[in-house]
Amino acid sequence: ADTVTLDWTIEWKWVNPDGTPRPVIVVNDQWPPPTVTVNEGDRLVVHVTNKLWNETTSIHFHGMYLKGSPEMDGASGSLQCPIPPASTFTYDFTVDQVGTYWWHAHNKAQIIDGLRGPMVVNPKKAPWQGQVDGGELVITLGDWYHRQAPYLIREYARTGTEILPNSALINSGQNTQFLVQPGKTYLLRITNIGNAAGQYFQVDGHDLTIVEADGIYVEPYKVEQLYLAVSQRYAVLLTAKTAPAGNYLIKCQVDVGLFPFLSGGLSKDCYGYLMYDSTKPLPPKVPLLPGAPFDDIDLVTSTANQYDQVEAYDKVDQQILLNLDFATIDGQTRATINNSTYLTQRVPTLYTALTTSSAALNPLVYGANSNPYLVSPGKVVEILLINHDHRPHPFHLHGHTFQLIARSSSPPPSPLPPLPLSFIPSHPRPLRRDTVVLPAKGFIAIRFLADNPGVHLFHCHIEFHVEAGMTASIIESPEEMQKTVKIPEDHLQVCKRQGTKTEGNAAG
Ligand code: C2O
Ligand code: CU
Repeated sequence: ADTVTLDWTIEWKWVNPDGTPRPVIVVNDQWPPPTVTVNEGDRLVVHVTNKLWNETTSIHFHGMYLKGSPEMDGASGSLQCPIPPASTFTYDFTVDQVGTYWWHAHNKAQIIDGLRGPMVVNPKKAPWQGQVDGGELVITLGDWYHRQAPYLIREYARTGTEILPNSALINSGQNTQFLVQPGKTYLLRITNIGNAAGQYFQVDGHDLTIVEADGIYVEPYKVEQLYLAVSQRYAVLLTAKTAPAGNYLIKCQVDVGLFPFLSGGLSKDCYGYLMYDSTKPLPPKVPLLPGAPFDDIDLVTSTANQYDQVEAYDKVDQQILLNLDFATIDGQTRATINNSTYLTQRVPTLYTALTTSSAALNPLVYGANSNPYLVSPGKVVEILLINHDHRPHPFHLHGHTFQLIARSSSPPPSPLPPLPLSFIPSHPRPLRRDTVVLPAKGFIAIRFLADNPGVHLFHCHIEFHVEAGMTASIIESPEEMQKTVKIPEDHLQVCKRQGTKTEGNAAG
């Protein structure tokens, strides 16, 4: 294994990906920012220097378990202090997993301002390896906004109305071309790196064979169309035609289901091209017609099987019940989990876990507004998340890929029978992933094994909702963390520069 070292300088710069110039956050003067590529087993070291003159920042490598190094997670306020302007901060961890991931800011909705990109972990060996003779195409989809995040966040807090994106981009641009050769097979790594909108995706005239979802291999499964909620990923095989009739459209389309008050102004279609011959004309743009795309629902109800055939956990040691809703608090739209809205923590929750000895097992020590839920080592944990809101929410858990045990678009029985409810797994070998859509007015049940001590956020991946407080902190095995985790000096330093305490008891 190697060490991959990256030096990243984070700055503002004007770009124009869709006809409207706006400032975005660039990495080393580059936008779209770079793809992070490592090999399985590599150590990744990223030195981040914040040269934004007016904002703090932080970087999260989405889907990384960070076993043994939870302090490298990047969620500001939870696992670290935000990185102030004019300072440097280092992420350093070993990558013991494979597949399609992404990285993004985990601070102040900066995904909206463009601080996000794909991440690929090349496996030593993969089930699909012998079939890919054309190479890999890394594809990102994402909704796009012309105004900067701080304005949108304030507007959201004031109105509580979902804000329509202005456009949608493929590989952070429009009309991006992807070259292929007739007859070759390609691995497409597709990620929704957007802020809010789910995306339909298809390549005209070509089937897609899913081989991986969120870093977990699945038995090859052929589809015409995919659906990716924000932060979901698929790797698919695409075989180029031996006798192509010119070039082909790559299409994506924003799912308008999130925007109940949809009105004009949204161009929801995005296009790219699968290019066989650049001397031939580009095909005309014909919008995608959402059909029956492959999404999590299929994973719950059976069709695709995970490659490693891991059985559903059949017994649950600990159940966490979370009720999701919205409320108006002090005139602001806030999201609530069990009636509590998440607020950015002054002392990172991890630091509280490390410095409060045996009191770290008492949720009160973390402060109610970190929405803390404690989990003990070795337990099978089930989270039952009930959506009292009328919108769907793509929920993501840090530090684990969970089994999706049950999912429903209708509410669970009310009143709930006494916990634990035993959900019968919808599939004997349910797919594991790290992000799943919680249906409007419905619920999900997920299970994972507590084998990774850390503070793992469980949150909706829509930045407006994150900023409105739709986050819970799963505090896993603080007693183990106290034995093994050491906060590096540069991490403590950024707290001091902001006058933030690095010890103790957020609750006071
Ligand atoms: Cu993509 Cu909290 O993460
Ligand atoms: Cu949400």
